[in-house]
Amino acid sequence: MLKMSQAKRITGEAVVPGDKSISHRAVMFGALAEGTTSISGFLQGADCLSTISCFRRMGIEIQQEGDQVTVQGKGWFGLQEPERGLDVGNSGTTIRLMSGILATQPFHCVVEGDESIARRPMRRVVTPLREMGAKIDGRKNGEFTPLSIRGGELKGIAYQSPVASAQIKSSILLAGLQAQGITSVSEPHLSRDHTERMLQAFGVEVIRDGLTVSVQGGQVLKGREIQVPGDISSAAFLIAAVMVVPNSSLLIRNVGINPTRTGIIDVVRAMGGHIELQNERVVNEEPVADLFVQHSELTGTVIEGDLIPRLIDEIPVIAVMATQAQGRTVIRDAEELRVKETDRIATVVSELSKFGAKVTPTADGMVIEGPAKLTGAAIDSLGDHRIGMAMAIAGLAAEGETTIANAEAINVSFPGFEQLMKKLTVTE
Ligand code: S3P
Repeated sequence: MLKMSQAKRITGEAVVPGDKSISHRAVMFGALAEGTTSISGFLQGADCLSTISCFRRMGIEIQQEGDQVTVQGKGWFGLQEPERGLDVGNSGTTIRLMSGILATQPFHCVVEGDESIARRPMRRVVTPLREMGAKIDGRKNGEFTPLSIRGGELKGIAYQSPVASAQIKSSILLAGLQAQGITSVSEPHLSRDHTERMLQAFGVEVIRDGLTVSVQGGQVLKGREIQVPGDISSAAFLIAAVMVVPNSSLLIRNVGINPTRTGIIDVVRAMGGHIELQNERVVNEEPVADLFVQHSELTGTVIEGDLIPRLIDEIPVIAVMATQAQGRTVIRDAEELRVKETDRIATVVSELSKFGAKVTPTADGMVIEGPAKLTGAAIDSLGDHRIGMAMAIAGLAAEGETTIANAEAINVSFPGFEQLMKKLTVTE
């Protein structure tokens, strides 16, 4: 149970934990590479630890001490058939990317996760991987876990993805690295491109043409050093805290600002919020900066189209900011929220309404009327890390005390969240 009370001010300097998407990929690509991969700034969240444990179970030696991880890669076919099923915990990225890898392996494997994973759609990766020649089954004809995967020789495909999803794109490209010929994926909007960037850092040739990305089968990954920047999706909670608590300002150091992830910065600026990028640099093909954030009066905005994949994970906390903005905020084209760790349209509406916020769900998003006076409430994370943290930020703006049940879910992506918020919050 996490307790939050109204904050007077948010102030100081912060570093957020490593990027979740980049941490997963560093371990997976390191395991498939030839030679050693040394990772610093690794996210020690439950999701990325699930990735480590799955690859250990396939015979990969991985040392982890704090945020330093060393992966002894054995080449693409160095993985061993695991003796028991693999458990991905709460991690959609682990199961979907790993399915692409397992589809190429000459063995059988069963993969499953927690209750949330059991409800999330898998046919979005199963269908293209089957088309490439993998034998995959699961409940409801492969829609749900447990997935049973028998990999083998694959053929390249040109896949038109119906959704802008980095998990779908990455799963197919990874399978494509061991398929006959060329594999390409086209998406309706550009989703995060960490796979493309990191594969290049591991020595793979990746060809981009607009919204289509292709790889040639049979390429070799070479182990290397990876420095993981702070996760902008975690920094988003701190940015929002500054925006909803008057007189606040904060310097957040070492945050990844890959343009496929910076929708949150664009939206905060469009709402009138002050964010400065300082000390911009590039680390392992990924742009990084320090963010200086200052409290500002916000106004409502419209969030839709191409912007959605660039801030999909930040929508719960954007909804919290919108409750404190003047006027209406409309979020549309975000039906993907329905299939995240929870149905995030339903859970944002149910939990944020408990504070007295005016939020109305729509089929593909929500409408928020602001500004609303928030009152402390008894909230449930519903097992969803980002719902737990978004509501904790609402608690900083709400009068009275807020409690968040099932707050341990926050460890999925932001271990140390509670302590960091305590350190940055002035209550007197
Ligand atoms: C992720 C992609 C996104 C995102 C998730 C991480 C990734 O999911 O929501 O938190 O690391 O590739 P989708 O690809 O399903 O949009």
